[in-house]
Amino acid sequence: MSLILGIESSCDETAAAVVRDGYQVLSSCVASQIAKHAVHGGVVPELAAREHLVALNPVVEGALREAGVTMKEIGAIAVTQGPGLIPALLVGLSFAKGLAMGNGKPLIGVNHFIAHIYGAFLDEAHGVLENPATYPLLALVVSGGHTSLMLIERDGKARQLGCTIDDAAGEALDKGAKLLGLGYPGGPVIDRLAREGDPEAFRFAHPHVDGFDFSFSGLKTSFLYTLRDAVADDPDFIDRHKADLCASLQHTIVEILLKQLVRAAKEYDIRDIAVAGGVSANSGLRNGVVEEGRRRGWRTFVPEFRFTTDNAAMIAVAGYYHYLHGDFSSLDVSPVARIEELM
Ligand code: KG4
Ligand code: ZN
Repeated sequence: MSLILGIESSCDETAAAVVRDGYQVLSSCVASQIAKHAVHGGVVPELAAREHLVALNPVVEGALREAGVTMKEIGAIAVTQGPGLIPALLVGLSFAKGLAMGNGKPLIGVNHFIAHIYGAFLDEAHGVLENPATYPLLALVVSGGHTSLMLIERDGKARQLGCTIDDAAGEALDKGAKLLGLGYPGGPVIDRLAREGDPEAFRFAHPHVDGFDFSFSGLKTSFLYTLRDAVADDPDFIDRHKADLCASLQHTIVEILLKQLVRAAKEYDIRDIAVAGGVSANSGLRNGVVEEGRRRGWRTFVPEFRFTTDNAAMIAVAGYYHYLHGDFSSLDVSPVARIEELM
């Protein structure tokens, strides 16, 4: 039996979790700073670092308490190394180092982006990752910072088939929400309002990209121009069409994501599909993937709702696979801002 303590501090969530044997979530505690950043319209890195500093100790203590375990029983400490905001990562990483050193536990630096994929295989879906028939697995990772199609091989090696050449999908939703005056982060608000709107009410630009890449900047411009022109004629346009605008924007983003996912699944003849990252919380995307999967005979894996956005359970699971291979980090491991430096 192995118990991994996961710690996450890459952005605006301070999180800790205890996971048994790589899939059983004994506790998953998240302290969100969203309200603190919302007044600034986005995440302020230095503010995030300060908040992590305050929250880390109680969150880690809470995760241990909730799991009913002591530090003594923990096999290893897994912590987000990156990608993320350097000041924020530094706080979590330093905390984890201190904890590891003080308690004589191995430390494991984890790739946050890859960890999101593990988030789709917690609790009930466990066992899938151990089954060789699952591979190659195709994963669409969609968050506030990333939009990538990943091919995961049986030996755990991950290859990026495509990624966004400009904004991430979550960023496009957040920016769209900002233009509509919906506050930060916009993803969840758009999701809620979209349920009352007509997804076909407005048409926005679809990108023309090569291979399996994504692009959302054309859509953003097209959304902006639609609003600008309509508001010039009718100052109340946004208020009167809010739900339709949200539904149409979300629908376009989901269409763009699914189109590339389907193309890659066909090209590589893959039937095991995972969707993960903050935007996998989106009901339009979740329904779209399941529906597409039903039509095409895929097995689809989406994270349980609470493991879609940043959490430490996914960090602990990713850490577990390093742990199995005795793949530990030294105490001088440093934070990494960009995904390229970790792959
Ligand atoms: O994975 P995540 O928590 O943080 C990063 O690693 O980036 O993703 C955050 C992103 C934000 O852009 C947020 O707007 C989006 O996930 N998001 C959603 C929903 N919930 C969070 N987007 C659409 N629909 C949602 N329900
Ligand atoms: Zn994330």
